[in-house]
Amino acid sequence: MNKKTPVKQVRLAVVGAGNRGQSYAKLAQECGARIVAVAEPRQAVRQRFANDYGITSEAVFDDWPALLDAKLSYDAVLIATPDRQHVEPAIAFAADGRHILLEKPMAPTEAECRRIVHEVKAAGVIFAVCHVLRYTDYTQAIRKIIAEGLIGDVICIQHHEPIGYWHHAHSYVRGNWRSEAESSSALLAKSCHDLDWLRFIMGRRCIRVSSFGSLVHFRPENQPKGASDRCLDCDVESSCPYSARRIYLEAAHRGETHWPVSMLDVDPTPANVEAALRQGPYGHCVYTSGNDVVDQQVVNMEFDSGRTASFTMSAFTPKAGRATRIFGSRGQLVGDGSTIQRYDFLTEQTFDIDTQAADQSLLGGHGGGDGRLIQSFVSAVAQNDPSLILSGPDETLESHLMVFAAERARKQQLGECVNT
Ligand SMILES: NC(=O)c1ccc[n+]([C@@H]2O[C@H](COP(=O)([O-])OP(=O)(O)OC[C@H]3O[C@@H](n4cnc5c(N)ncnc54)[C@H](O)[C@@H]3O)[C@@H](O)[C@H]2O)c1
Repeated sequence: MNKKTPVKQVRLAVVGAGNRGQSYAKLAQECGARIVAVAEPRQAVRQRFANDYGITSEAVFDDWPALLDAKLSYDAVLIATPDRQHVEPAIAFAADGRHILLEKPMAPTEAECRRIVHEVKAAGVIFAVCHVLRYTDYTQAIRKIIAEGLIGDVICIQHHEPIGYWHHAHSYVRGNWRSEAESSSALLAKSCHDLDWLRFIMGRRCIRVSSFGSLVHFRPENQPKGASDRCLDCDVESSCPYSARRIYLEAAHRGETHWPVSMLDVDPTPANVEAALRQGPYGHCVYTSGNDVVDQQVVNMEFDSGRTASFTMSAFTPKAGRATRIFGSRGQLVGDGSTIQRYDFLTEQTFDIDTQAADQSLLGGHGGGDGRLIQSFVSAVAQNDPSLILSGPDETLESHLMVFAAERARKQQLGECVNT
């Protein structure tokens, strides 16, 4: 950029100041953007957020339509509302000419996703979806190895998302993504990232998919004998790996205040966490929580020219980085979200690359992907340059459609084995 051209300071409005809204706002400020407005229904959360960013009272709202109607001066809006509340604000703010950073999934149905893409393109605004994995140094390093031909032609990929037993219990059994009707399928909520990432790495269109998966374990019939519906009253809680006392209350007693404890109360003191466990969803037994999303799923994919990928997501793992093996015609890559091991078939040598992802967990911001995503979005808006976005409307729609196809395949139970 010409030295004399002053870099425009991007002004952001945040819609939904929950977990993701807060993380992105902090990162955006670190990237030089200014948070100038917020819409958030929860009073205590809204007030704390407004105080943190010095937002004046006329720019603080309890719902996004009020922010929209106020016609304030800002460049872009960051939409981090729950899954089923993305489509309306995305379309409305696009029509209002605001650039948009939208949390994934774009929307829980194919028709709504198509609507969003149609409307943001018609409005001509910069639009990015938070497919944070595309932006990590780790992903960029893998793409570079492939582009340089170091493993030859990529023929197939094996990819695993180990959700982690307590993370799955938190989000998909007790938490916000436990019911498909209220949020999304687990594949869309958790692993639209993974199918998107596989498409990005493969560099080819996905032609067809098959999928299997169900809710096997977190069901009433698997509740241990003598268990209660609330962990704090349960006689067998100490022998249960999913004990809410262990996951939340002991963490609060250790002084932890970050996610997931932060989801229980704005001020997660041990007393407040205990009260939340007595009354709220996070203190409920994982076997009688009324959840209905899958606890494991596999997806097989065929890409252009016969290339294939297989994917597994599972609740029944320690919380760890995604594990991937990429099989090329002259070498193999093995990656864990931070380090990459390349084996060369010709020389039979192994090369180790450490991309030093700060931390592969959500706490570390998706291996640096959160930070890079925000940096790209803020720069794209400042320079009016959508080419800085790696997860725009078309590529996001394409990989969301892979998820919808996989869910159709899973629900239709294609390929049934006949026992003769
Ligand atoms: N990119 C990722 O890796 C990633 C990770 C986690 C969650 N997500 C997605 O981010 C979104 C938000 O998730 P979260 O974990 O921050 O949830 P959250 O519940 O912590 O935050 C959502 C916030 O939206 C607010 N809200 C609800 N209705 C609103 C309205 N009408 N106007 C303004 N605000 C409203 C809620 O009060 C809440 O504070 C979800 O769609 C989720 O699937 C993405």
